[in-house]
Formats: sequence, C-alpha cells, structure tokens
Amino acid sequence: MCETCNKAGKGTFYVTTPIYYPSDNLHIGHAYCTTATDTLARFKRLQGYDTFFLTGLDEHGQKIERKAAEKGVSPQAYVDEICVNTKKLWEIMDISYDDFIRTTEERHTKIVQKIFEKLYQQGDIYKSEYEGWYCTPCESFWTEHQLVDGKCPDCGRPVEKAHEESYFLRLSKYAPRLIEHIKSHPEFIQPESRANEMLNNFLLPGLEDLCVSRTSFSWGIPVTFDPKHVIYVWVDALSNYITALGYLSEDDSKFRKYWPADVHIVGKEIVRFHTIIWPIILMALGLPLPKQVFGHGWLVMDGQKMSKSIGNVVDPVVLCDRYGSDAIRYFLLREMPFGADGNFTNEALLARINSDLANDLGNLVSRTVAMIEKYYGGVLPEMGQRQEVDDNLIALAEALPGKVDELLGKMQFSTALAEIWKLIGECNRYIDLTQPWVLGRSEEGKARLNTVLYALAECCRIVGVLIAPFMPKTPARIFAQLGVEEAALQSWDSVGRFGGIRPGTVVHKGEALFPRIDVKKEMEALAALNPKKDAPKAEKKPEAKPEDKAAQDEAEQGLIGIEDFAKVQLKVAKVTAAEAVKRSDKLLKLTVQCGGQTRTVVSGIAKHYAPEDLVGKTVVLVANLKPAKLKGIVSEGMLLAAADDEKGLLRLLTVDGDIPDGTEIG
Ligand code: MSP
Repeated sequence: MCETCNKAGKGTFYVTTPIYYPSDNLHIGHAYCTTATDTLARFKRLQGYDTFFLTGLDEHGQKIERKAAEKGVSPQAYVDEICVNTKKLWEIMDISYDDFIRTTEERHTKIVQKIFEKLYQQGDIYKSEYEGWYCTPCESFWTEHQLVDGKCPDCGRPVEKAHEESYFLRLSKYAPRLIEHIKSHPEFIQPESRANEMLNNFLLPGLEDLCVSRTSFSWGIPVTFDPKHVIYVWVDALSNYITALGYLSEDDSKFRKYWPADVHIVGKEIVRFHTIIWPIILMALGLPLPKQVFGHGWLVMDGQKMSKSIGNVVDPVVLCDRYGSDAIRYFLLREMPFGADGNFTNEALLARINSDLANDLGNLVSRTVAMIEKYYGGVLPEMGQRQEVDDNLIALAEALPGKVDELLGKMQFSTALAEIWKLIGECNRYIDLTQPWVLGRSEEGKARLNTVLYALAECCRIVGVLIAPFMPKTPARIFAQLGVEEAALQSWDSVGRFGGIRPGTVVHKGEALFPRIDVKKEMEALAALNPKKDAPKAEKKPEAKPEDKAAQDEAEQGLIGIEDFAKVQLKVAKVTAAEAVKRSDKLLKLTVQCGGQTRTVVSGIAKHYAPEDLVGKTVVLVANLKPAKLKGIVSEGMLLAAADDEKGLLRLLTVDGDIPDGTEIG
C-alpha cells in the first residue's frame, strides 16, 4: 500500500548499472548500458512500481592515481571533474537515476571499512602473501589468469614474478553454497549461457581465494586496522549497491525497503565479479542475494577504423546534439539484442532514424493528425461500426502492452521495440487498405472514416505511452499533436483497453517528430566532425592569449607542426604470420618483425586481404601507438593503409626493395 496515495502499489523494484571507472572519454558503449537500465527503471515506474535506480562512479585505484599525477592534480580533483561531465552526459541522455554513488563519498568509504572489519573479524578475510606478475612500467600486479600471451594485459610488455603482502577473501569456503544457489535459481544469472560459463569455467574447477587489498598504491579506502593497505578492488566497488541504500548506517530504511536488488545490469566482462565475488560477500555478511544479474553484450565500434575517430562520431554528446537523445536511445536499444555484441555504425544509425523514426512513426502521427484536421476540422470523431480490418488492428493494439511487459521482463529491449513498431507498421498498412482520402469524398465514406481515424488516433496514443520508457521526450510531442492532456490517458493503466482517447478531442498538427536526414550529406558531416570542437561542453576554457591564437587557428584548420609529426614513430616491419580473428569478419591478427622485436598487430583488413597474401610483405608500422585490445587480443601498433570507403578499396602501404625491418621512416 502506498503511504501517500493509499493505493495498492505493485511493490518495489531496485535496478543498478555498474559504477563506471571515471573516464574523460565516455563513449556510446557506456551510454548503452545506462540507457538500457534507465529504460527498465522508467518502465517499472510507469507500471506503478516503487522503483530505485542506482548508478555512479568507481573512483579508486592506481590508474586514477597515475592519471591525476600526469595532469598534476589530486586524484580527488581529477575524479570530481569527471563526475561533473558524467552527470552532464546522463542529463543529456535523460537518465533518470534516483541516486548517483561515488566510491570516494564518506557514506560509502565508512561502510566499506565496516564491512571489511566484519569479514576480517569473522575469519572470512585473512592476511597472507600475494604472488603474482608485476608490470614495472604500469606498476600493476596481475594474476597468471589475467595475463595476455604471458604479458601485461594493459600495455603488452613483459612482466616479472613478484610478492606482495595482502588480505584475502575466503571465496573457497562459500563456493559449494553458491553453486547450489546458481543451480536452484536459473533466473539468477541471465542470459543462461553466462550461468553455464560461470559454473563450468570458474566455480566447478575450484575457486582460489581473492586478494582484496594492496600496498603498492594509496588511492583507495584504507584498511582501518592496517592502514598501509588499501581495500582493492571488488569489496570497495561492489559494496556500492548496498552502501547507497544506507546499509549499516544510521538510516538504513532504503536498504530495508529495496534490498535485495531485482537486477544488476552489467557488461559481460564483469558478470564473473557480480555472480561469484558479490554473492559470496553477501553470503558472508548474512544478506540475501540479488534476484538477478544480467550480462549484456558490448557495443563494438565499427571495426578498427572507427576507433581512431572515437572522439567524434561515437561521442554520445555529439550524436544527441545532432539527432536528439531519443533517436540515440532508440537506436541503442533497437539495433542489437541486449545479450549479444553489436556493431555501431553511422550508416545503421541514420538508416534507423530515417526508416523507423521519420518514415514509420513520424509519418503515422503526422498523417493521422493531418487527416483529422482535413476531414473533421481537427476534432476527433466518434468511432462508428467496426469491420474485420479494424478488429484486427485493435486486437494487435490491445495485446501489445502484455507483450512489451513480457519482453522487458526478459530484458529483450530490441524485440519489445520491434513489437511496438509492428503496430506502427500495421497502422500505416491500415491507412493504405482503408484509403481515407477516398472515404473522405462521400457522405457514406465519411461514416466509415470516423472509425478509421478514431482507431488511428487511439493507436498513436497507445504507442506514445509504450515508447515513453525508451524515448522519454517523444511521447509529450505525440500527445501535444493528439490533444491528449490528461495524465490518466498517458498512463500504463490506460493502454490495456482500446478506446481511451475521447471523441471531440482537438488535435494540432505540429513539427515532424523526426525530420528525414540526407544520409550522404550527414555521413560527410560526421566524418568531418572535429572531436575537440564537439566534445561535451564542460567548463568554458579561458580565452587564449593573442600569441596562442595563431597556433589555435592552425590547429582548427587541421594543420600540425613538424614537432607533432615527429611524435609518430613509423618503422619498416615484415609480416611473418597472419590469421583470421575469431568472431570477426573484419580483423586479422598479424605477427610482424620490427628491429628484433616480434609484435602482434590486429588490423581491420580481412575484407581486403587473405591472411596468406600478407606473409612476407614489408609494411609501415606505427610503432609507438598505445597498445589496444581488440577482440581480446592486444594489438601493439597499427599498419598504414590507403582506404577509399565509398569504393570499398583498401591497400596496405608497402616498402620497396630490401630495406631491413626496424628502419625508421620519416
Ligand atoms: N568499475 C567497473 C564496474 C564496477 S561495478 C561494481 C567497470 N567500469 S567500466 O567503466 O569499465 O564499465 C562500466 C560498464 O560499461 C560495464 O558494464 C561495461 O561492460 C560497460 N561498457 C563499457 N564499454 C562498453 C561497450 N563498448 N559496450 C557495452 N558496454 C560497455 O567495469
């Protein structure tokens, strides 16, 4: 029962995103997870659940400490600035979180310390020595398991064996209980394939205890009884889901109300931490486990080429600026099934905007309103007699809320949208079948036209209600055109039964909901975008001094000085092996020799070269590019190529004659 309105509520719903590592460069992939979680939260609110949606930032760790030092600011100042920009992005994207937790907040750090103490006192955390692999340039410890080809997973350089005194969490003690829980609660880990992966790859072979503290850096929450240790990393990060609710604090009312979480939505690479470490921490604390952990797939950035321009076209702020946040949210949720990986391309985005949003939805609303204006002076007629064609449309509309509910219950955002668009498609077909422009010519036809236009207006209203969780801005624009003002007609309860919109309602033709895009022009504009110019408009930069102006103008024209060019180290390299990358139709994994070094380079050229054609080629390597992980493979450099996207041509730059590999190019 709701305390304020005295109505029977539906109960509570607690949903979370992971807390993000602070990033200067929040990309569309980050927005993917948050948009999905926001949609679910909005849907549950629409249905009347007392919903709590948590997101936030995971602000501790050595990387932050190092990045802040590079910038010459304190770690706290560094994360504070990122936090402002992160919240701005969520505002632009209409992310309706109820709380935003930062792991540097006292409400979190104090409770994490209490949790750590409690687990230590009851013997679930103990002190020992950590043997691992140390990467000196990165100052990072790695387990055997984390290494990639025996090298540092961050920078790809060699690592050494090392020891560090650490605290450990006794995962092994709780493993049998967890295995039992996973087996008896098939809904706990979703999609199901991820549950099998956790059982077969990690739990059944036997769990090692987990190192939960570090002494090699200090940007973390100190262990109260041994302050040279900081708590790292999962006990700190995962606890956010309960510290935000006030667990172990003076006011734990939210914790009592919302815990256990209904669903933690996380990317597939952190399912393991959420379904093994987190449940074990909760078991050790004597707390109930979350009802579900859902592991979604990744948004892949249009192969290798796109990743170079990651700062512009895949910047969600730029995209929201150009097309509106609703279009971006729609695309993210419609384009790929939530559990699987999906590719982001500008072409696909523009195609969805033009076909689904401008043609299907936008046209339906504008045609419906225009016809009511034309034939009835803008006043919605009463529904007349129904024929089979009307009954079919109405049956589809009445069944739709149930389908959306069922699909969102399974996190099938894309299929839920496809179902809504089925109704939109049927409405457009219904217009073609009933031919209102013919009916409007005679009195007899007009009697039939009443029914047709009423049915269309009511379907538009139902669509407006059902798309609200996915696209929060568009419904108000649809309702304004339809003249639907009452909140009751914009509610979930109003969509189960056909016939809510009142005859006599006055419609108003408005602007096109989604103007059509000239794809060719827009593709060119996206390609030409300057990432710096279109980056999130955070704080205003101070006015440049006059002497800096010339340099700034040159930079804006895309000109660089010789010193900038000299930063790029180009070297001759010889390809010694090449193979296709699994689960990718674009990438090849190449082994190249460069001045006595063997390097792995992942290159997006599979559509243009067969692996066997490459062996023996003398190519140009960007030798000082930061290593990057592509499909799980660390790529140590990039090969230069000439590409003509329009013609679909790509050729590698090769070097003539017998020049030895390793030779500098410049
Ligand atoms: N801080 C940890 C989570 C701790 S939760 C207790 C973390 N942070 S993260 O910033 O690296 O990632 C946050 C979320 O964003 C993850 O769920 C991750 O999968 C998701 N994504 C980051 N890049 C993504 C894509 N390209 N595509 C889809 N999701 C992506 O992990």
